[in-house]
Amino acid sequence: KKVVLAYSGGLDTSIIIPWLKENYGYEVIAMAADLGQGEELEPLHEKAIKSGASKLYIEDVREEFVTDYIYPTLKAGAIYEGKYLLGTSMARPLIGKKLVEIAEQEEAEAVAHGATGKGNDQVRFELAVKALKPELKIIAPWREWDIRSRDDAIDYAEARGIPVPVTKSRPYSMDRNLWHLSHEGGQLENPGLEPPGDVLLLTVPPEKAPDTPTYVEIYFEQGIPKKVDGRELPPVELIMELNKLGGANGIGVVDMVENRLVGMKSRGVYETPGGTILYLAHRELELLTIDRATLHYKELVASRYAELVYDGVWFSPLREALDAFVDVTQRTVTGTVRMKLYKGNCTPAGTTSPYSLYSEELATFGRDEVYTQADAAGFINLFGLPLKVRALMERQAGLR
Ligand code: ARG
Ligand code: SIN
Repeated sequence: KKVVLAYSGGLDTSIIIPWLKENYGYEVIAMAADLGQGEELEPLHEKAIKSGASKLYIEDVREEFVTDYIYPTLKAGAIYEGKYLLGTSMARPLIGKKLVEIAEQEEAEAVAHGATGKGNDQVRFELAVKALKPELKIIAPWREWDIRSRDDAIDYAEARGIPVPVTKSRPYSMDRNLWHLSHEGGQLENPGLEPPGDVLLLTVPPEKAPDTPTYVEIYFEQGIPKKVDGRELPPVELIMELNKLGGANGIGVVDMVENRLVGMKSRGVYETPGGTILYLAHRELELLTIDRATLHYKELVASRYAELVYDGVWFSPLREALDAFVDVTQRTVTGTVRMKLYKGNCTPAGTTSPYSLYSEELATFGRDEVYTQADAAGFINLFGLPLKVRALMERQAGLR
């Protein structure tokens, strides 16, 4: 009997290995997904085996993460509760998908993960598994065992000769991938306090950013970023490049209290340097190339899309249907956006597109050639007719 475990090499997922063997009698296959967390994953082989796993799969999913998860979410303009760029939320379904693939390959009867019973991640992993292979059994040790603290976990590991990370771990719960780095827990649990100065790892605080602005030019094709400063870059490199530029200029730090799906509010700090540049640049191009009605409707779609991704309902007909809508809107979202990065700000510095709907001839405050101002009088008469009719009725009925 086998189980496939989503494994990170950290303390929690390390002790899950012996726990699964002792409590379920399973052979444990470990799976680590390379989402661009910037850590050496090779050394995990030895660590996983030492912890009692029979095998470790390392899955390089970086490109798939960017093209199939990040880009659709970027094109949708999805932002959760107006602030969060969904870096963890998008990654979980992909890890779930890989768990399922390896479970099939290994003919395992179950999968397991190290998310707690209080968070969103458990929901996202498990909805992915249910959507892709409903008969797989899912084990979430955090919902079953009586380990309650880091000290409990260390005791559990030491009693079984499992290597405990010697590095003094930061007091925050972090999740890192190509798109973002999230911080929760520790001192952040008091939303009345500013985040401590040592939280940020990818981004310099704005006050330490350079005193001169950095300009970056991004070329998009149908909503997908293809070039940075005229250089064509493959998806993973493109994000890494923008992370460097954004990080150095203090771009993309979010401090927020958010609503978790499981009912509580939680406080997090997110670093999304490159992603923030991409979102803002993409939005500029949309403002230039998408008509008013479609643009406004797309804003409704964006907020529903964000909720769906946050809630872990990635593998769903609704997401596919919204993707289809979004893709139609992106047909003309092609062009170049120049952004100015300066001490935590990322502002537009010129946008061009062969599909631009902007007409200087129409908008000009100079001499009218194509727009007849007199036409506006009739337009306003009809547009305002319902308001006028109502006002007359209210007066006649003695309502005002
Ligand atoms: N609150 C964010 C979200 O729900 C980040 C979660 C981070 N997860 C973690 N295991 N540290 O997407
Ligand atoms: C966890 O509880 O495992 C991390 C936080 C979350 O999933 O929201």
